[in-house]
Amino acid sequence: MAPLGAPTAYDVDRIRWHFPALHEGAAHFDGPGGSQVPDTVATAVVETLTSAISNRGTVTPAERRADRIVVEARAAMGDLLAVDPGGIVFGRSATELTFHLARTLSSDWGPGDEVVVSRLDHDANIRPWVLAAEARGATVRCAEFDQGTGELAPEAVAAVVGERTRLVAVTAASNLIGTRPDLPAIAGIAHAAGALLWVDGVHATAHVLTDVPASGADFWVCSPYKFLGPHHGVLAAAPALLETLHPAKLLPSSDAVPERFELGTLPYELLAGTTAAVDFLADLALTDPSRPRRDRLVASFAALEAHEDALLAALEARLRAIPGLTAYSNAQRRTPTLLVTVEGHDPQDLRVALAERGVNAPAGHFYAWEASHALGLGATGGLRMGLAPYTNADDVDRLATGLEEICAVAR
Ligand SMILES: Cc1ncc(COP(=O)(O)O)c(C=O)c1O
Repeated sequence: MAPLGAPTAYDVDRIRWHFPALHEGAAHFDGPGGSQVPDTVATAVVETLTSAISNRGTVTPAERRADRIVVEARAAMGDLLAVDPGGIVFGRSATELTFHLARTLSSDWGPGDEVVVSRLDHDANIRPWVLAAEARGATVRCAEFDQGTGELAPEAVAAVVGERTRLVAVTAASNLIGTRPDLPAIAGIAHAAGALLWVDGVHATAHVLTDVPASGADFWVCSPYKFLGPHHGVLAAAPALLETLHPAKLLPSSDAVPERFELGTLPYELLAGTTAAVDFLADLALTDPSRPRRDRLVASFAALEAHEDALLAALEARLRAIPGLTAYSNAQRRTPTLLVTVEGHDPQDLRVALAERGVNAPAGHFYAWEASHALGLGATGGLRMGLAPYTNADDVDRLATGLEEICAVAR
């Protein structure tokens, strides 16, 4: 048995076999926008929709099924994020959960209070805080990243944190350029000022093993559709912290934690799919199935990181040799997500030319609106290429060859 965390054999052919979408033949580099889905996830969704299902309860089998699905999905997300399942909140999307909690968390902010955001972030982790601050007369301060290195230094966060800072909102990884800030250091800065740390883990959770308590985050949001699951959002926080918060809710709906934060009836079929996605991730590296799921996730993410790092190195070596190409993904620690522009080429044209070759790599700002503007790319953005658990060497070759040809032909 491999020691926990050690890279284990990664059989990408076996993994790809589970993705019906790949049989259509495209090479997918659009994972940061939403990954493809394994058959086991689709089956779990279908089986839920075709089984007797009711609202959660204990009397009928249909009620018990709904209840079991919710409990299992909280347990799965608890294992994925290394948190107490009792602090897992489900919602429509990470954006919606952030807006919802921003309204709740800001209810006692007032003039003089401050919230810190980062210019590296997706707008889903900027605008909800800006609007919440505006509504309360509080002040927004923005931590700047280094446009050359792509780094968001803890010092840049410290520069805008003060004694009136109530909350620091920062990304675990940029969905535009992949940068992974030093979260424990940022948590130390936020907590020393008495502020809470809200982390957008939407992009990071798909690529690196998440341990929310070790990161120092008080809140972590993510979206299963980025890590092989269905389209909904997840929030994780310590149940004791959630107990102190009182969101807007219907009078008759449960006031228990975490249900207190969940608006309306949960999407049971999607939750069943999310449990299946976490199980699939846990088996990326085929370790002993009798080991606890968290242990298998640790081994699987170590193998996934090694797989993605090797492919990224091969891809970067070829792309960075293309004349006129500028790569914006330069941070020391980053996910396998590359943003580039090529002199003389509109990113949208590159995207279309790649699509004609069966290579899916989108172009744009990807809602990292502030970051795209800070990089000088405005609303146009760049060409983004993201690796996923199903990416193989052939995909990488198709992408690199495609870009080499497009850029050479057009010259
Ligand atoms: C880093 C990041 N944060 C937030 C979001 C928004 O997630 P959701 O679609 O679940 O609201 C995205 C989506 O692309 C993202 O990449």
